[in-house]
Amino acid sequence: MNRASLDKRPDEVAAMFDDVAPKYDVVNDVLSMGQTRRWRRIVVDAVGAKRGQRVLDLAAGTGTSSEPYADAGIHVVACDFSLGMLQVGKRRRPDIDFVAGDATSLPFADNSFDAVTISFGLRNVNEPRKALREMLRVTKPGGRLVIAEFSSPTLPVWRTMYTEYLMRMLPAIASKISSNPDSYIYLAESIRAWPNQNELAQWIAEEGWQDVAYRNLTGGIVAVHRARKPGRTEAANADAQTALRRRGTRAAL
Ligand SMILES: C[S@@+](CC[C@H](N)C(=O)[O-])C[C@H]1O[C@@H](n2cnc3c(N)ncnc32)[C@H](O)[C@@H]1O
Repeated sequence: MNRASLDKRPDEVAAMFDDVAPKYDVVNDVLSMGQTRRWRRIVVDAVGAKRGQRVLDLAAGTGTSSEPYADAGIHVVACDFSLGMLQVGKRRRPDIDFVAGDATSLPFADNSFDAVTISFGLRNVNEPRKALREMLRVTKPGGRLVIAEFSSPTLPVWRTMYTEYLMRMLPAIASKISSNPDSYIYLAESIRAWPNQNELAQWIAEEGWQDVAYRNLTGGIVAVHRARKPGRTEAANADAQTALRRRGTRAAL
């Protein structure tokens, strides 16, 4: 094994991450040339969680993306469906709350987190729009969403260089250092097939999130999208407006 196809069958994706789990973080650092650390700091700032708040780090893998919250005394729940990734994480950080769960059917109550974040995970989910709806469901009204994902470099020259790196150098380096080099071919292919910054922003808004905005990192290699769940009053107003529109439509018929 083990490389998932672009169909992203959940069993294949989970098995692929089980396979790479032991060396996942080291390989990540090498392939990103240390950039992941900077990207992660920006995500944590965007989440802006305070002590006493509950944060869901979805597709948390080994929990590297969850650690800064735990270190700051924030209650973070690290959720993932790869038991291999979760085991590596739990061994390293027994203090973090690791939970097995699928992003498209989350094992959490409605309105239970102040913020939900997902780093380099949404692209691997087989129904990403369903995951966006699930994240909305479990976020408290007025709560925040922060997504970090590989995206599309904005400058053509940079895009060409990056594509060259993804398709040639990355698999070559991965073949030397990873236990599952094939999974890095999936990584390159899945990045190329993923929607660009504006398309992802549109998905997020269409699934019910408000105030959607994004910021490009490293020239657009990564984009950090932010959004907010409508507050109770906004949601009630939106429902009332929909009801009024329906009544108006009926009256006109
Ligand atoms: C590239 S890793 C990212 C891990 C971590 N967030 C980080 O930044 O290092 C992607 C993770 O997404 C998880 N994943 C993919 N699809 C998932 C799903 N439907 N539900 C839960 N986790 C999923 C994989 O198991 C994997 O651990």
